[in-house]
Amino acid sequence: MTDTDTPSEAPAPPGCPAHAGAVALDGLQFQQTTAELYRKLRREHGAVAPVVLDGGVPAWLVLGYREVHYVTSNDQLFARDSRRWHAWDSIPDDWPLLPYVGYQPSVLFTEGAEHRRRSGAISDALGGVDQFELQSTCERIADQLIDAFAGRGAADLMADYAHLLPLLAVVKMCGLPDSETPDLVRDLTASLDAGEDDDPVAAYGRVQDRIQRLVESRHQRPGPDVPSRLLAHEAGLTDEQIVQDLISVIAAAQQPTANWIGNTLRLMLTDERFSVTLSGGRRSIGQALNEVLWEDTPTQNFIGRWAARDTQLAGRRIRQGDLLILGLAAANTDPQVRPDAAAGAAGNQAHLSFSHGEHQCPYPAPELAEVIAKAAVEVLLDRLPDVEVAVDAATLVWRPSIWMRGLEALPVEFSPAPVAQGLG
Ligand code: HEM
Repeated sequence: MTDTDTPSEAPAPPGCPAHAGAVALDGLQFQQTTAELYRKLRREHGAVAPVVLDGGVPAWLVLGYREVHYVTSNDQLFARDSRRWHAWDSIPDDWPLLPYVGYQPSVLFTEGAEHRRRSGAISDALGGVDQFELQSTCERIADQLIDAFAGRGAADLMADYAHLLPLLAVVKMCGLPDSETPDLVRDLTASLDAGEDDDPVAAYGRVQDRIQRLVESRHQRPGPDVPSRLLAHEAGLTDEQIVQDLISVIAAAQQPTANWIGNTLRLMLTDERFSVTLSGGRRSIGQALNEVLWEDTPTQNFIGRWAARDTQLAGRRIRQGDLLILGLAAANTDPQVRPDAAAGAAGNQAHLSFSHGEHQCPYPAPELAEVIAKAAVEVLLDRLPDVEVAVDAATLVWRPSIWMRGLEALPVEFSPAPVAQGLG
């Protein structure tokens, strides 16, 4: 870490002695070196560090593996409904983290029996996805995306490939007609990840309208898709709940899976253990996907949980209504559970990248994400066998986010390849 990367120490928020010495997580100056940041926080604060978010808002960053496991296992004590937060009076309407913590009546913020009902219906609806069919769909989507740039001999694998593929796959799982897919994908991209010209709120409104129409159409004509299975589910969800939860599913799937693909391609194209040689010998794609979940997990920090009552955690006094952030990346690299990080993680899937407990990424979403990510990496390496990163690997830039870990761009070069239209 260079001097300019050193996280700034924030003044303690008024009336909060526990946050003296808290580290500001808003500067993003350490985005290139988050592993170093987590080591430093662990060294100075232990398993639970006082941090300050944008606008001086205090929170706890849970860094220890055992502590993240404990917090996520105790959903009555560390609960998910953000209306429990005691800080709402000091949160401005334009607070940049509102999209993550602003209460919505979706599965994300429900608790207890109501959460189990909503999340169980999502699991059952996702469980109806035929994974072999999903794999073929993803291979077809991958071929089409590669066709669009294969003749150029160059591409940005984040914008041209990794961001689009999971979104197209999930939209297909939801049974959206092909004719409506481009508009929905454009609006979803704008609402999840606004560029300068987009109005994310208007785009989100259009997404909601479109999903609403999709759900209405499935009342008349059910199909082999996720919305139809949610409508038919014994949980008896209302249309409004189904619309909210479908948007949550699509949004929850898109960015993490896109970054899982991007981070895996980066690893395979820049680390000689995975590099292609003419004589063959590529380490398995499955191994690279798993290593990324340990070392560069897509959801590096998840916001969050709120304490339902006063309690203690790793020697810290946690007050009712305090906000806790799940430090998933830090937990995965906690020396208490991985004393020898260099030993690698082959075969070990005990990482917390899909979180844990009641609100973890619902089964079988992690499996579906793996089918999507694996197909994406396989087809790309198959179609462009001499693909290589077009810049010095050390200059690849991570996005300025403490929440998601993904590259701004992954520029690559390869021998121009023929299009595969008709192959699939
Ligand atoms: C097909 C792809 C995916 C789908 C459909 C999906 C779906 C979901 C849903 C619906 C939730 C909300 C669960 C709840 O609040 O009860 C969730 C949470 C989550 N997902 Fe996924 N997801 C996908 C891929 C991924 C990937 C690739 C990652 C990271 C490697 C990931 C990590 C997480 C995490 C960390 C949470 C938060 C859990 C918590 O609050 O403790 N997901 N996902």
